[in-house]
Amino acid sequence: MSSIQIFVGKKNDIPVQYLEQYFALQQLHEEDFFGFLPPSLDYYRNNWTVPREKGSDWINAIVVNEKDLVIGFGIAIWSTMYENLDRAFFRLYITPKERRKGIGTQLLKEMVSSLPPIIETLYSDAPTATPGEYFLQNFKKESSYTEEIIVVDLEIIDIHEVEKEANEQKQQALNKGYDIVRIDNCSFGESFDEEEFVGIVEQIWNDMPIEDLAEEDFNMTVERYNAICDRNKRKGLEYVSFVAVHLETQKPVGYTTYAVNKYQPAISWQDDTGIIQEHRGNGLGLAIKYQSLLTLLKETKAKYWRTSSSRVNKHMRKINEKLGHKLWQIEPVYEFERKIIEDIVL
Ligand SMILES: CC(C)(COP(=O)(O)OP(=O)(O)OC[C@H]1O[C@@H](n2cnc3c(N)ncnc32)[C@H](O)[C@@H]1OP(=O)(O)O)[C@@H](O)C(=O)NCCC(=O)NCCS
Repeated sequence: MSSIQIFVGKKNDIPVQYLEQYFALQQLHEEDFFGFLPPSLDYYRNNWTVPREKGSDWINAIVVNEKDLVIGFGIAIWSTMYENLDRAFFRLYITPKERRKGIGTQLLKEMVSSLPPIIETLYSDAPTATPGEYFLQNFKKESSYTEEIIVVDLEIIDIHEVEKEANEQKQQALNKGYDIVRIDNCSFGESFDEEEFVGIVEQIWNDMPIEDLAEEDFNMTVERYNAICDRNKRKGLEYVSFVAVHLETQKPVGYTTYAVNKYQPAISWQDDTGIIQEHRGNGLGLAIKYQSLLTLLKETKAKYWRTSSSRVNKHMRKINEKLGHKLWQIEPVYEFERKIIEDIVL
């Protein structure tokens, strides 16, 4: 292997002189991985200054070659409070020309040696039939979970038809005893009891299929939820949510949220969508998402609306098909023991 240097650790462990190259490589990775025009470089510059929220920790790594070029990077993220304390997510990227030289494996090994001892399980994802997936299959033959990424091409959607359907859907929800309320930038506390709203978030998160992942249920608190929203807002995300409200009790029963990153205005990233069990079967999931679609068309410059769900989540898939989503890519998640990486001899 040609001579390389790996820097691993917190922000201060990454020498400042490599940061601009690191950001450029992150941008390249994003285009390679997601297949969309990535955010502008300012997104990555700003992102570097945004701390992770309480209860979450991370390390970065960069690979520098003998010509002082950054040719790869890695990131690992894990939870330090609430739940899933023994699992870390990681992502690596090696610039295409430098692949298949063992650098990705060496980088992962060095990153893993910097993780806290409590972490026993590692997981990562990659689009199917790409170098990323082949790399992960070295550590685990079968994936533990599969996410389907689907996309609506907003430029071919007829806004008048969407408006008509969104209004009809809203009326049907009203007829069944539900209102749909818009909330901007996560300010749920202005319209609902925050504890109650976050209880809905927790139910929805824990109700999503996880297939064979060894993932514990989430404990959502108001403080944690607000901290996640705040971090993402500081990263440049602008959120719009539509909440289904049961008129008789005035309680929220589900919501959908999308975000547009101000550094990447062409893409709308769908966040959570869910209706709690007792209120399902009333068409509310579709009704709230129609409000999102109409708002995207009216108020943003987004060209694509990107969402994803577990491939086994049949209800969500049906809703998304009605909204015009088409398959974009499939991303399996590979989960395996930390020990597998520690045992690799280079
Ligand atoms: C995943 C990635 C970081 C691997 O980097 P790398 O430096 O090429 O990895 P290595 O050279 O250490 O590869 C280790 C092994 O993975 C497997 N592998 C990696 N790329 C492969 C490919 N294109 N085809 C088949 N096997 C491949 C091989 O078994 C390889 O060993 P070998 O070359 O001795 O056969 C790189 O392909 C990449 O940046 N991909 C895009 C980002 C991504 O998808 N990340 C997701 C995983 S975290």
